[in-house]
Amino acid sequence: MSETTPKEQWSSRWGFILAASGSAIGLGNIVFFSANAYKYGAGAFYVPYLIALLVVGIPLMILEFGLGYHSREAFPQSLRRFGGKGGEFVGWWAIINATIIVMYYVTILAWVVGMFVGSFGSDLWQLPEAGDTSNPQQDFFFGMTQNWYILAFVGIVWALNVLIVWKGVSSIESVTKFLVPLMWLLMIALIIQGLTFKTGFEGVKLLFTPQFDVMKDAAVWRGAFGQIFFSLSLGFGIMTAYTSRLSRNTDIPSTAMSTSFMNCSFEFIAGIAIFALLFHFAVAPQASTLGMMFWVVPQGIAHSIASLGIAAKIFGILFFFLLLIAGLSSSISLVEALAAAAIDKFGISRKKVVTIIAVVGLLGSAVFAWPALLDGSKTTTIGLTMLDFTDHWTFGYGLMIIGILECLILGWSGAVDKVTDSMNAESRTLQLGKVFGVMIRWIIPAVLIILLGLSLYEELDKGGLYNFDTEVSVDGTKLSAGKLAFFGWLTITTVTALALTLIPGRKKEEV
Ligand code: TRP
Repeated sequence: MSETTPKEQWSSRWGFILAASGSAIGLGNIVFFSANAYKYGAGAFYVPYLIALLVVGIPLMILEFGLGYHSREAFPQSLRRFGGKGGEFVGWWAIINATIIVMYYVTILAWVVGMFVGSFGSDLWQLPEAGDTSNPQQDFFFGMTQNWYILAFVGIVWALNVLIVWKGVSSIESVTKFLVPLMWLLMIALIIQGLTFKTGFEGVKLLFTPQFDVMKDAAVWRGAFGQIFFSLSLGFGIMTAYTSRLSRNTDIPSTAMSTSFMNCSFEFIAGIAIFALLFHFAVAPQASTLGMMFWVVPQGIAHSIASLGIAAKIFGILFFFLLLIAGLSSSISLVEALAAAAIDKFGISRKKVVTIIAVVGLLGSAVFAWPALLDGSKTTTIGLTMLDFTDHWTFGYGLMIIGILECLILGWSGAVDKVTDSMNAESRTLQLGKVFGVMIRWIIPAVLIILLGLSLYEELDKGGLYNFDTEVSVDGTKLSAGKLAFFGWLTITTVTALALTLIPGRKKEEV
């Protein structure tokens, strides 16, 4: 096979922006942002967050967009063009790192489906009796994660992913065109309701009052930069795959800025809705990200059902529905990025690739969702523990490592100048100047290296890598969960990426 089949393309710039922002807007915006802000002291978070957006988020968005637009190929092939085999390896490494993320992301979405279904009933919305320390929402969640039906939900979420990417960008475009506006509508409805909670406004004020003393902590900065990467879908290889199917004569810098703006404004208003709700009901402030989504927010909703009745219940139903569609329009983007990379390298049919991805993805998600394997503590599953540990590496470190490497490869091979020229030639609004190259070559890698170095140092200083020595017991046998997550992540990404780089692709026409 030597002919390249003409690639499908997005039908319009707006269709593309909706799809790209559908990828960007996800669980990250609705819950992880608020949970991180909460964890790092509310008002302490958004200044580092905005700095991260300006210094790294927007320039990298433009770079990843420009790369795909310029080379018209998925992430590994685009990087190979400028960085040789090493570049291709980095591209695959990014996509495999993201594939691990999508596996547990789908597991989380399956739990969202469980909560959504549960939100129609009344068990999820119980309130504890006075003096009773139980937490009905938490009990509901753990009950669900330990039930076999959750595997069916994992299957449903994967099936929906396959359905949406089955025809590539055209089917993605027609679905996200509908889902993204719907997400905005739902979010606005939730905010209006959130602000009617009388004391909710206090929470919003807290979110926007900067606290400078907490910013001395490197963890706050890593939290903010990590959030920007995850939220904007940077370091996944997604945006490059998306723009590789974008027609000529598109104004890339302004398209990249619109996408970033859509994403971050959604994140901010989601923060307002959630902080308003939490403050009104004063529910447990120190929530983990998943705790925030699965029992803290639901607990707030349960309180409002007690006082407002059916209207609040609808709020609950809509909240989980919103999470589901926002998450789905994100997970499909990685399936597409992986599919596009495999298609561009091996020239195999899309349907075959998507089927393989779904089967492997389903197995991975099922491992994270496995209901019968309980953590030694007997309340939570091993999958949930592994999810937490794995997320620390894939999300907390993986994405930023890729950010550093892509900047170095593209900055120092001269690619950034070529890509900038081709963007400038077709941009009617913004012309990128020399500063852009300086950011990519120097500033972004330096900032990210310092940040990762400091975080690693802080982590080791506190007694070792994240939960490295944590063991959980499975029916009496000990499992080194912390080590398994770390070495599992490192081995799977590296070995798979190496294999995909070294296996020869189809013969390519000369460029
Ligand atoms: N940007 C998404 C969010 O904020 C995250 C995301 C995008 C993602 N694409 C993904 C997660 C693919 C997993 C897999 O939630």
